[in-house]
Amino acid sequence: MSDPALDRLRNWNADVGIVLGSGLNVLVSAADSANSVGYSEFPELPKPSVPGHTGRFVLGNIGSTRVLFAQGRVHLYEGHTARQVTGGIRILAAAGIKRLILTNAAGVANQNFSPGSWMMISDHLNLTGTTPLLGSAQFLDLTETYSKKWRAEFSRAAKAENITLYEGVYAGLLGPQYETPAEVRMLRSLGADAIGMSTVLEAIQARALGLEVAGFSCLTNWAAGIGSENLSHEEVLETGKAAAKTFSHLLDASL
Ligand code: HPA
Repeated sequence: MSDPALDRLRNWNADVGIVLGSGLNVLVSAADSANSVGYSEFPELPKPSVPGHTGRFVLGNIGSTRVLFAQGRVHLYEGHTARQVTGGIRILAAAGIKRLILTNAAGVANQNFSPGSWMMISDHLNLTGTTPLLGSAQFLDLTETYSKKWRAEFSRAAKAENITLYEGVYAGLLGPQYETPAEVRMLRSLGADAIGMSTVLEAIQARALGLEVAGFSCLTNWAAGIGSENLSHEEVLETGKAAAKTFSHLLDASL
């Protein structure tokens, strides 16, 4: 099948795909932005409706590694299905990437961690109640959703570069409302270190397609009831912007 938009992505020959979460758009440099393909070129992709989420693939570089950025993701809480919100992952896989980095903004539930830092996802709790594999009988093994080997490489790079990189469990919820303090206590007792509204379905879809997956949460705020502040999307975006520089440094050192 010839599809000019997919061919443009394919011809970039990228090994790595990177999905950018809230406020992390600054990871794409101005130079890279010139080379992009809008989500609107792909009829199967819904358009993101959240401020801070642009919808396009960017053909970029990190050092000498070619990457495809997915800048702007769509979420279940926008009213889309699990299948729709993972369309971008299927396109990245069709474009030939072998490794996928998922990023997100998340609230911190683990009091030993701190907002403004990054957590590498070691495992997840899919609490969305759905899956992109719905309708198939694909009994996918998720024993190692987030590549152990790749995690070790990121950890080594973080240590060498003096970057604080926590590691923990990400709980993915439907949203769009933030959690109540009672829900945060429940999630903590279930083993969650960070809480967000994305990533888990994309990770499942990527593993189903055989991609190696890494995930990173930008810890933008204390989860509800832990800090003294109320939560706002603006705070999430601002903290994300500041922490993006650190992440960019980590990627430079790791890819
Ligand atoms: N909860 C859920 N999702 C989030 C949060 C949070 O506290 N912060 C950023 N995304």
